[in-house]
Amino acid sequence: MEKPTSAYDIDKVIYSKDEIDARIKEIGKQITHDYFDKQDQGIVVLCILKGAAVFMSDLIRNIDLRLQIDYLSVSSYGMTMKSSGEITLRLDTSLDLSNKHVIIAEDIIDSGLTLEKVCKHIKSKGAASVTVCALLDKNISTCDLDVKYKCFDCPDEFIVGYGIDYAENYRNLPFVSSVVSEQKE
Ligand code: IMP
Ligand code: MG
Repeated sequence: MEKPTSAYDIDKVIYSKDEIDARIKEIGKQITHDYFDKQDQGIVVLCILKGAAVFMSDLIRNIDLRLQIDYLSVSSYGMTMKSSGEITLRLDTSLDLSNKHVIIAEDIIDSGLTLEKVCKHIKSKGAASVTVCALLDKNISTCDLDVKYKCFDCPDEFIVGYGIDYAENYRNLPFVSSVVSEQKE
C-alpha cells in the first residue's frame, strides 16, 4: 500500500520541530537559572490540558531542577475556532500548591482570558508565586497577564499542531502550523 505523505492537509508550517526544540532548550535553561534558589520551597510546573501537554513534556525535560508537575483542564473553545469567552474548570490540580512556586505551561495565548482565570485560581490556592510559560502568543490579548517566558510570537490565525487542536485533531503534528481552510466566524 502506498504511504500517504502526511496524515493531515497542512496549509503552512509556522515553526518547525527543530526551531521548537531549540527554543525550548533556551527557555528551559532560563527557568533553571531563575528558579535554582526556589527548589527547597518547591517548584510545580502546571500543564493546562490538553493543549500544553506536548509542550510541557518537552519543557520539563529541559529544566534541570527538582520539580513536581500537575495538571489542570479548562474549556472554552469546544469544537469551534472561536473562544466561547466562558471558561469552565473541568479538572483541578491535585498537589498542595500553598507556598509553592508555580510555573503555568500554556500552549497559546489568544484573548488571554483562560490564563487570567487560571492565574487567579492558582493564586487563590496560596502559591508563593505564579508565572506563565507560553509556547505561542498572538499578541492580541488585552488581559492583564505577566507572561515571563514566551517561546514564540505567532500570527493571529487559527493555529494547530504540537499539542494544539482543531476539534481535537492535529495535536500529534510535531510542528506548529495553521489551518486557514475554515474561517473564524
Ligand atoms: P484564550 O483564553 O482566548 O487566550 O485562549 C486560550 C486557549 O484557547 C488555549 O489554551 C487554546 O487551547 C485555545 N486556543 C487559542 N487560540 C487557538 C488557536 O489558534 N488554535 C487552537 N486553539 C486555540
Ligand atoms: Mg484547545
